[in-house]
Amino acid sequence: MRIENSVVIDKVSKDLIILRYNDTSTKYFEALWEIPEGVTYNAYLLIDGDTTVLFDTWKKGLESEFLNTLNSVIDIRDLDYVVIHHMEPDHSGSIKTLYERNPGITFIGHPMTSKLMRNLYGISPKFRAVKDNETLSTKNYQLAFIHAPWLHWPETMFTYIPQIKALITCDVFGAYTIPKSVFIDELSDEYISSMRKYFANIIGFYKDNVIKNLDKVLAVTEGNIEIIAPAHGAVIKGNLVNKAINLYREFTLKTPVNRKIVIAYSSMYGFVDGIMSHVAHVLSDWGFNVSIYKFTDKERASIGDLIGEANNALGIVLGVSTYDTEPFPLMDYIINLLIKKLKGGKPVLLITDYGWGDVVLRHVKTRLEKADFTVIDAISVNGIPTKEDLDKIDIALQSLKQALTQ
Ligand code: FEO
Repeated sequence: MRIENSVVIDKVSKDLIILRYNDTSTKYFEALWEIPEGVTYNAYLLIDGDTTVLFDTWKKGLESEFLNTLNSVIDIRDLDYVVIHHMEPDHSGSIKTLYERNPGITFIGHPMTSKLMRNLYGISPKFRAVKDNETLSTKNYQLAFIHAPWLHWPETMFTYIPQIKALITCDVFGAYTIPKSVFIDELSDEYISSMRKYFANIIGFYKDNVIKNLDKVLAVTEGNIEIIAPAHGAVIKGNLVNKAINLYREFTLKTPVNRKIVIAYSSMYGFVDGIMSHVAHVLSDWGFNVSIYKFTDKERASIGDLIGEANNALGIVLGVSTYDTEPFPLMDYIINLLIKKLKGGKPVLLITDYGWGDVVLRHVKTRLEKADFTVIDAISVNGIPTKEDLDKIDIALQSLKQALTQ
């Protein structure tokens, strides 16, 4: 493997090459999600005799890096096809530059893609809109384009190359990480967390489409997949392929098989902090695996990690302080994300705290219930919890335990 200036060029198979950019400078993916772990953009290039097919590019802003990398492998003037699996600019970022350098390229994508090319890049190149399962033959390969709507946008599609049993999947099976090598040796707990975080942050909102699309892909490929080549993270091969597919099914489950409870809270002056320490102790003593995300004057947890862990947690405890008659702004934002990305289906214990006005509890409880979360109990505390408050909290914890161990 050759690594130059955060660029990896390596073979995935005899004729399929990965062009990978290791991005350590983006702090907030989609200008939203914290990614201290970094991210990669993986494009793939198939060279079959005289025919060259490029699958995706890198993030917008990396056009010269991408072109230099591609040029080190082939002459861009010889590039025949560019397959666009997904138009989000972390993958389509170089298509305009490619078109300007080589107007003869035929771009291939979902029928919706040409409009997005015009709208996002102001270009209307030679474009072949492909139907679901339409194919393109080169000398030795037959590429099948499989529509995978809403994973992550409506125009998303995959390419399956039966001759090497490779499925190129763009965002799906991606992970936030910069793997040491092109292929991953094992789906370690750490790697699974990176996959889950990417899934929950990016695809969570569309999770209802995951199983449908996976089943379709397995039917079309007859399960003959030996390589999964995503656009972020490592290439997955061999016996890890089925494991990855099963993990993806697990990510969509509303009732996971684990003992994880995510506690997320804001505390401006320590009142909620004290209550949540008690909650965490009790839940840990009962054998739950507790992860705490706090937002205080001393620390601010990663919201991307929170959403990633909460996606497959058994239950959630929220501690919300009151701010200007509303939920504390960061918790308001987190509750919105939990609603959007998790889509309900989980037990939640809600505890709010206020100084002069008991206005937040009902507001948050109603939102969670409307979003299909089961609010096990909702307790409002006025400043320092009284003995009665603590008794109520202990009873609510018992109810949560009962709900989670049914
Ligand atoms: Fe990695 Fe939806 O873009």
